[in-house]
Amino acid sequence: MSTSANGTGTAPLLARSVRDLREIIAQWRKDGASVGLVPTMGALHQGHMALVRVMQEKVDRTIVSIFVNPKQFGVDEDLDDYPRPLEDDLAQLASVKVDAAFVPEAEMIYPAGFSTIVSVSGLTNFMCGKERPGHFEGVATIVTKLLLQALPDAAIFGEKDYQQLLIIRQLVSDLDIPVEIYSAPIERESDGLAISSRNRYLSASDRRLAPALYATLQSIAKDAVENFNYRSLESRGIEALLEAGFEDVDYFEFRDAETLELALRSDQAKRLFAAAFIGGKRLIDNVAL
Ligand code: PAJ
Repeated sequence: MSTSANGTGTAPLLARSVRDLREIIAQWRKDGASVGLVPTMGALHQGHMALVRVMQEKVDRTIVSIFVNPKQFGVDEDLDDYPRPLEDDLAQLASVKVDAAFVPEAEMIYPAGFSTIVSVSGLTNFMCGKERPGHFEGVATIVTKLLLQALPDAAIFGEKDYQQLLIIRQLVSDLDIPVEIYSAPIERESDGLAISSRNRYLSASDRRLAPALYATLQSIAKDAVENFNYRSLESRGIEALLEAGFEDVDYFEFRDAETLELALRSDQAKRLFAAAFIGGKRLIDNVAL
């Protein structure tokens, strides 16, 4: 455990094990401080930093966890290629005075013989749950573990991964985990592209086309103010994305903002969700209506 104190823009306390983490938090608890957790897979960007800012307003001490969770990657997904710029991540956390970083090794999180999976039904039937089998089990398992390891007062998740956010709210409620879950809106590049650790893998020309995802979501969402034929709007959205240069569209769907069932009525709180491939990279985004 490193020992540099926070409050002056110095490095966050670094916890490399659950034991380190619990020692740090126990000390804070003794001081009467409230604690918030911001789970991430690192390669930190302005989207993550926005979550940190919200959390810092809610609690006295903020921990950012950085763990590239192997269980949420499919066999042919980019686990090995996922960026791991740890030094740069820690420097970013220091610059905004995050109090502690939890950076465990995979062998510690999933030791030999690990055999428990947390699986949320219902919400996982749609969209990324359908397209990425096992993904949300991996997410639910790691988030449950992180919440039980830190036992924070609060944790925060981004609307960028809206389905993930709902699944986490569900598991926290179902398992009576005593934590308040906050959310934060999607941070975007100046051209509208939702910020993501994976954007750095887009070629220059794909990067220029990528903002069409958000532009299409916005334009179809605008049409839905007057046109309630959601299924035909969805088809138009898919066509627009293919025309813009996306090679494949996993989904482009109006769904209920709470149940994620397909949206049917105009008086229902809903969002428009999309996942599409450009240059072999899968981008996701969503907008509220
Ligand atoms: P990661 O992709 O690193 O994202 C960590 C958190 O940052 C998530 O809550 C995500 O929704 C949020 N986030 C990412 N990009 C954002 C953006 N542009 N605007 C706002 N929030 C954004 O999501 C995960 O990691 C993992 O699944 C995790 C929850 C850490 C479990 O392994």
